[in-house]
Amino acid sequence: DWSMSAYRAEMQKKIRDQVGKGRVICGLSGGVDSAVAAVLIHEAIGDQLTCVFVDHGLMRMNEAEEVVRLFRDHYNIPLVHVEAEELFLSELAKCGSDPEAKRKTIGRLFIDVFDAEAAKLGGADFLAQGTLYPDVIESVSFSGGPSVTIKSHHNVGGLPERMKMKLVEPLRELFKDEVRVLGRELGLPEAFVGRHPFPGPGLAIRCPGEITKEKLDILRKADAIYLEEIRKAGLYDVIWQAFAVLLPVRTVGVMGDYRTYDHVCALRAVTSVDGMTADFYPYDMAFLGRTATRIINEVKGINRVVYDVTSKPPGTIEWE
Ligand code: XMP
Repeated sequence: DWSMSAYRAEMQKKIRDQVGKGRVICGLSGGVDSAVAAVLIHEAIGDQLTCVFVDHGLMRMNEAEEVVRLFRDHYNIPLVHVEAEELFLSELAKCGSDPEAKRKTIGRLFIDVFDAEAAKLGGADFLAQGTLYPDVIESVSFSGGPSVTIKSHHNVGGLPERMKMKLVEPLRELFKDEVRVLGRELGLPEAFVGRHPFPGPGLAIRCPGEITKEKLDILRKADAIYLEEIRKAGLYDVIWQAFAVLLPVRTVGVMGDYRTYDHVCALRAVTSVDGMTADFYPYDMAFLGRTATRIINEVKGINRVVYDVTSKPPGTIEWE
């Protein structure tokens, strides 16, 4: 892609001009955006860059291992893997059910961890993030209306004032489909470039109500089964994003001779071009029935599955 290769060179010059001889740390989330940002920046400034992957305990099943493996095996980019599950879960336990409190806490903890890692490297001048154009606009306005923050995206708003590092955000002008083109241009593996978006706050925003490790573990199992069924049905690449949500609601059911009283799991899947608007995916009922049966049989703690048929707007893609 000619225009993307020109963009790549132009961005790399801008990155070099901005950072000079400074040290940069780049937060990797496991998603496409931060990976593309990291590879682009590494090409531009080499070992002035260190990547930091914060495992906040809010990742999907096996996600942390996959990300670390990709970066260590595929690229020669220095990567620090920070185990921060206890820190994040203990602070989130203090937030109760408030979605904005959860998002702000996660944003603050990310900065604390990045600051601590920067200090270990002898200081860093810049923090790089994979912020995209829709993140920027959705954080300040919605549908061209008045300036209202719908959600505090941790990677745009909510960066504590005290953060001394300056931001490097080379993808700020791009939409998701353009980031994927740039990722291919940079030689990222197709399996990675084609991944569904995954939000920085992770499973915290797919677990409405109070967050506990027990609920996160239940959610991870249901989510893994759901994605496995999507892949088996050959639907992964036609869907923009699909995930399970664990509701803080229990309902009565029956399993064999027993009464159960367990959580409801909601399934979400949407098609979209840029994440700004989205349509729910019209699965056939056989797919939904098969997936629900597997989740209820295989995941202890869930006895009912529902499908979310809300498009965006008026819904958002995530539940919080
Ligand atoms: P919503 O739920 O606002 O999501 O319709 C639109 C897209 O953005 C992702 N998303 C986030 N990504 N940090 C991120 O990096 C966040 O705080 C965040 N919140 C939502 C969401 O997964 C969807 O792709």
